[in-house]
Amino acid sequence: MGLFTRKPIAALIPEGDGHTPQLRRALGTSDLVMLSIGAVIGAGIFSSIGTAAAGQLAADGVTVIRYGAGPALIVSFVLLGLVCALAALCYAELASMIPQAGSAYAYSYATLGELVAWIIGWDLILEYAVGNVAVAISWSGYFVSLLSGFGVEFPGWLVHGYREVMLAAPDSPLKALITEAPHLFGKPVLLNLPAFVIVAAITWLLVIGVKESTRVNNVMVGIKLLVLAVFVIVGTQHINPANYHPFAPNGFRGIHQGAAIVFFAYIGFDAISTAAEEVKDPQRTMPRGILIGLAICTLIYIIVGAVATGLVPYQQLLANDPLAAAFDRAGLERFTWFISLGAVVSMSAVLLVFQYGQPRIFYAMARDGLLPAWAAKIHPKYRTPHITTVLTGLFVALWALVGDAGETYDLTNIGTLFAFAIVCIGVLVLRVVDPDRERPFRVPFAWGVCLAGAAACLFVMKGLPAEAWVRFGFWLAVGLALYFAYGFRHSTLRRGSEKAA
Ligand code: ALA
Repeated sequence: MGLFTRKPIAALIPEGDGHTPQLRRALGTSDLVMLSIGAVIGAGIFSSIGTAAAGQLAADGVTVIRYGAGPALIVSFVLLGLVCALAALCYAELASMIPQAGSAYAYSYATLGELVAWIIGWDLILEYAVGNVAVAISWSGYFVSLLSGFGVEFPGWLVHGYREVMLAAPDSPLKALITEAPHLFGKPVLLNLPAFVIVAAITWLLVIGVKESTRVNNVMVGIKLLVLAVFVIVGTQHINPANYHPFAPNGFRGIHQGAAIVFFAYIGFDAISTAAEEVKDPQRTMPRGILIGLAICTLIYIIVGAVATGLVPYQQLLANDPLAAAFDRAGLERFTWFISLGAVVSMSAVLLVFQYGQPRIFYAMARDGLLPAWAAKIHPKYRTPHITTVLTGLFVALWALVGDAGETYDLTNIGTLFAFAIVCIGVLVLRVVDPDRERPFRVPFAWGVCLAGAAACLFVMKGLPAEAWVRFGFWLAVGLALYFAYGFRHSTLRRGSEKAA
């Protein structure tokens, strides 16, 4: 059997349903909107907007890694809203046809074949696990800022990871930590302990089987919206219009490169498309829920972006906790703790969703024989995929302990955009090779939407720094090597058909 053997959809659906009764179709449009706000609003808006607005210099303080959008960040948000809408429609079609754990991985197995499915599964590690490294580091930034509001200070070397300090600009106060930190074998010990601890705690909750319920999600969404509302209402009264000039200091290049990093704020829409099986009247509800959720998040991002860049000169947003820093610098210190609290709660919710999703993708891959069988083991008591949950936890926690948020945002974005582009193409492929299959939801104007979606994702990817491309290429090469060393020979689909032959 060839590398592009496709898994029949009929073989996918029983796995999605299991041998249990069909899932109840209970979710309406408003539930989907709440789910998407829960999964989407997090580190992107609370943290990556700083670098998106201000840009980034290399550690030499001269070389430009990326140009910032400045106040034109709001244009970046509008463009990203459109790009994500195209991709989200494609996700909705595949999700309604193939409602199965594993998301884009499962879709590509059915549309583009095993090799592409493996690449996507491997690539999704960038979205879920590496994405959570960035969220954990941003979480830590706000957590430290929250505690310092209550007079609790940590030594700097215990709250900033090695890469973060090394990559900081030469005039950054973080550089002082290189000499202040204790040394081991001549190297400074620089650890982001809060990021490590939050990931460890969430991993433990997931192993013992805590699931995010709709009710908890609604409470978290309420807190997020309340905090952002306070940010906007209080912040609006302290805007200095002079901060909006120049509006686009780096022209379209800045808007494009800013969009490429703040794309992180939109990640998560794909996660809600997996609820397709539990949605009432998916043909209408799915696109409505996805698009309304996307529109609301885009609107929130535009307003928050406008207030943040109006409060302080955009260069001052370059921080791990840019919204809190903006309030601080605008003389609104008394509200900072509240913003930080909201950020900590929002990002904990995002951590939980993605830390929950990653082991399930591994699980789907192991069930298909592309990963060793132990990865699909379920804990006898807790009924959770405990081995992959712990491995994911270790991977994320250790990387977050020493990593840099900006670097990991880039890697996550490039991987996720690539998966989005493949999903857009997958919709078209399936329309051609399997035109008669029932599609509870169909992308309108499929050719135009899918091709534009894929092209738009590639365009946003182009705005990422060269280093992100190199790392992405390296990541894919390692993935391919692993596939040929293991998955190629152990694939259940391939072995099944060889047996049949
Ligand atoms: N969109 C999610 C966030 O911003 C991943 O945290």
